[in-house]
Amino acid sequence: MSETTIKKEWEEAGIDLIDTSRMYESLRYNDYSVENGLGEIVDNSVEAGASRINIYFKKGIYKIGKKEATVIKQIVVLDNGCGMNQDTLAQCLVLGRSICEMRNGRQGIGKFGVGMILGGISLARRIDVYSRDMFSAPFYHTHIDLEEIKGGMKKIVAPQAEDIPDEYREFFDGDTGTLVILSNCDRMDGSGRRDANEFSATIANFLGRTYRKFIAGGLKIYLDDRPVYLHDPLYIDGPTQFDTKEAQDPKASLYSEISFGWEIPGGNGKTADITIRLSLLPLEWRINIGDGGRQEARKRKIDQNEGVSILRANREVLYDKIPYLIGAKGQAAYQDNDRWWGCEISFPPELDECFQVRYIKRGAEPIGALKDKLKSELTDAIASLRKRIKEDRAQNKANLVQAGKMFTYAETIMTEIDTVLPMNQAGRNLSETEENAKIEEILDASVMEGSGTESERALRREALRNQLYSIVPVRYPAQILFETEMLLGNKVIIQLNVNHPFYQKVIQPLCGDITKEENVEAINEKAKIRDAIMLLLMSFAKAKAGFHETPENQMFFDNLQAQWSAILATAANRLEP
Ligand SMILES: Nc1ncnc2c1ncn2[C@@H]1O[C@H](COP(=O)(O)OP(=O)(O)OP(=O)(O)O)[C@@H](O)[C@H]1O
Ligand SMILES: [Mg+2]
Repeated sequence: MSETTIKKEWEEAGIDLIDTSRMYESLRYNDYSVENGLGEIVDNSVEAGASRINIYFKKGIYKIGKKEATVIKQIVVLDNGCGMNQDTLAQCLVLGRSICEMRNGRQGIGKFGVGMILGGISLARRIDVYSRDMFSAPFYHTHIDLEEIKGGMKKIVAPQAEDIPDEYREFFDGDTGTLVILSNCDRMDGSGRRDANEFSATIANFLGRTYRKFIAGGLKIYLDDRPVYLHDPLYIDGPTQFDTKEAQDPKASLYSEISFGWEIPGGNGKTADITIRLSLLPLEWRINIGDGGRQEARKRKIDQNEGVSILRANREVLYDKIPYLIGAKGQAAYQDNDRWWGCEISFPPELDECFQVRYIKRGAEPIGALKDKLKSELTDAIASLRKRIKEDRAQNKANLVQAGKMFTYAETIMTEIDTVLPMNQAGRNLSETEENAKIEEILDASVMEGSGTESERALRREALRNQLYSIVPVRYPAQILFETEMLLGNKVIIQLNVNHPFYQKVIQPLCGDITKEENVEAINEKAKIRDAIMLLLMSFAKAKAGFHETPENQMFFDNLQAQWSAILATAANRLEP
């Protein structure tokens, strides 16, 4: 165009706001990642109420000199949502036009009227859209192509009735819906080509987290025909890929949930609710999976679970460490332990301005006053979560090496009633040295698992010193069922012989193996019987402790117990197995 023609044009009729042929090329260089570009298309499908969304990456071989690389040539998104009538279809590729209805009086994900185009052209040079809003009606088709726009095309042609490609026909059988095809995908990494095989995992992760609320609500997303499982950084929602018919993965518990109203900008004093949810990951993961770096933890992405997820209209817009929300100034804001809790902040689109949401629905940064409010809500809760996680770990460690965890309940009962029982007569005259020697003897005889190392033994020693009642499994000759030791300060210790036939034929089958701490959970249903039998033994021991330790008494009890054990052994041996 010469200068004189330009002058003529603006003099006579004004001039176009936009030079479309160049503008579209420039608009491609926005900061959409592949995930977010594709996300715009999926957003629309979700908003159209689809229950099924299929995404395909169509691959091709690309040659660079002698090298060959697999690249993505086409991205195809199919949804069985409400579809578009011809009118909507005609406008859906108009930049800036949003044709959204409120659902249940609420604003949805779409708002700016640019998502499909800007998301689409950030990855591809051509967008084809096929849609029908009645299952018996034909599909209508519209498209934009950057080559045509570059060549001077300024209008989108009216949608035409047109069959969808054969391979997608089955998907829409008897359904309404929309098919979007992005072709000529030349900007899959923003500037060049990236190997296609790297994509699937990244994209599946993105989809499973971003749309988790919808997936939990029944939406099925397939990526190249493989189901996309939800991933909830709070670890509450399911089913995840680890929930099968055979086994359910443990789930986190909701630690706290608070909502508060926040004024809608320009809303005449109206407010909309912001909700903060915090979760605490399952105890068994925190204490068993360990440092979050082990394989089971990694599979569940726990090693990367240090951050806050921000949801807008139930769709995640940000998942990241947000240092300004956590931790006092000058402190390292995030700690390793933080992977064991989850945090989610949800807001409705009415509050976009307060979270500085842009037309690219990625990222959210609360404005000053809101930031302070969120921080004040989070600070104490996170401090107590951190404390709890630390304490649980310490407690578990102590439990694992402490003798008699299995008997805690029965021991506690005895300890409680001990205040109204007579004092021990036996064991009162021991010196501390004698007591210590006895405790060491008992520790030597103990066959409790997990007392091998010096520190484990030290913990068990502490327990024997501090508990009023203790039961210690031992291995003695078969005829002895148990022995008792009375120590200083009214302490009663029972050494229960796991070699005795009554133990092997009755106690173990009914109560489980008492030498293994890991059985504590597993034999829970057996706990009542175990507690009952232990009460029987401890009551006997306490009664015996009420007698003075004269040589006569001692001999009497030794004989009584030996006889009783021997008779019981003979009888127990005759029990049916
Ligand atoms: N899969 C779909 N099913 C039904 N309608 C669709 C679909 N995709 C797009 N549309 C229609 O096209 C319109 C334009 O979509 P586009 O993503 O460009 O804008 P938006 O979703 O309204 O806003 P935003 O820019 O925030 O995404 C939508 O408002 C919707 O009416
Ligand atoms: Mg949209």
